[in-house]
Amino acid sequence: MALSGKVALVTGAAMGIGRALTEELLKNGAKAALLDINMAAGKTLVEALEKKFGKEKALFVECNVEREEQLKAAFQKTVETFGGIDIVCNNAGILNETEWEKTVSINLLGMIRVSYVALDHMNKLSGGRGGVIVNTASLAGLGPLPSCPVYTATKHGVIGFTRAMALASLGSDYGVRFNALCPGFVETALFTNIPERLGNFSHLKDLTQSIVDNFGIMNVSQVAEGLMELLLDETKTGQALTILPIGRKYAEFPSQA
Ligand SMILES: NC(=O)c1ccc[n+]([C@@H]2O[C@H](COP(=O)([O-])OP(=O)(O)OC[C@H]3O[C@@H](n4cnc5c(N)ncnc54)[C@H](O)[C@@H]3O)[C@@H](O)[C@H]2O)c1
Repeated sequence: MALSGKVALVTGAAMGIGRALTEELLKNGAKAALLDINMAAGKTLVEALEKKFGKEKALFVECNVEREEQLKAAFQKTVETFGGIDIVCNNAGILNETEWEKTVSINLLGMIRVSYVALDHMNKLSGGRGGVIVNTASLAGLGPLPSCPVYTATKHGVIGFTRAMALASLGSDYGVRFNALCPGFVETALFTNIPERLGNFSHLKDLTQSIVDNFGIMNVSQVAEGLMELLLDETKTGQALTILPIGRKYAEFPSQA
């Protein structure tokens, strides 16, 4: 998929990985709607993007992925502004074992909610032009992060949903690919705050640090490179792309009966 002229929508776009994904999309010629609950950071980012890439390339919409009505309005505004949607980066997420229900609500329910609203616009069977949905999962979606059982559960859920939706889309001719990004540890606010968000598992702080030391820490641009791989290679659907300091690799799963 060549990105020039394509329209993308990114959730959790104001900071961290979402910000890097958005910048990479614009750098490659796409336009982007930035959805986030952090209005101040979102508006500042759009101003910076306009300076760098020119006017009318980026749109900020204040939107909580937990709220279906806000999401529907944000997608509608994106379509009215840019004329359609080709790419959705389902990226908003938190890590907070003390607020575990909120973690499920944003990371898993939000991810599903965004995907269904996106399909309403992108599904070729209902007048959309097809495209690709990329969900930001995590390495914690493929194996356990011991101090973060709920975060681990949500990210396993994201990968399961992504893989099943890819097959559902193929079997239904929706024309929409579904893939997941599975980064290891990335230098962002979410990562920096991990030690304070472990709740009942805060005594496992040192174990978490030893896992971080073992895997290493990446910068956000390494995740953006992974996004580009999944967007540009149109053969990829139902994939979980691991991203680590040593490189990228597609996860392998047991074959289905
Ligand atoms: N940082 C890491 O080490 C790491 C590793 C693997 C996966 N991830 C995943 O990457 C994604 C982005 O994380 P990050 O590290 O950039 O975090 P971050 O905290 O830097 O950024 C998250 C962004 O999401 C926004 N957000 C939070 N709740 C939201 C909601 N309800 N609706 C809309 N926006 C909301 C925040 O305002 C923020 O701008 C998450 O899904 C996270 O689980 C992060």
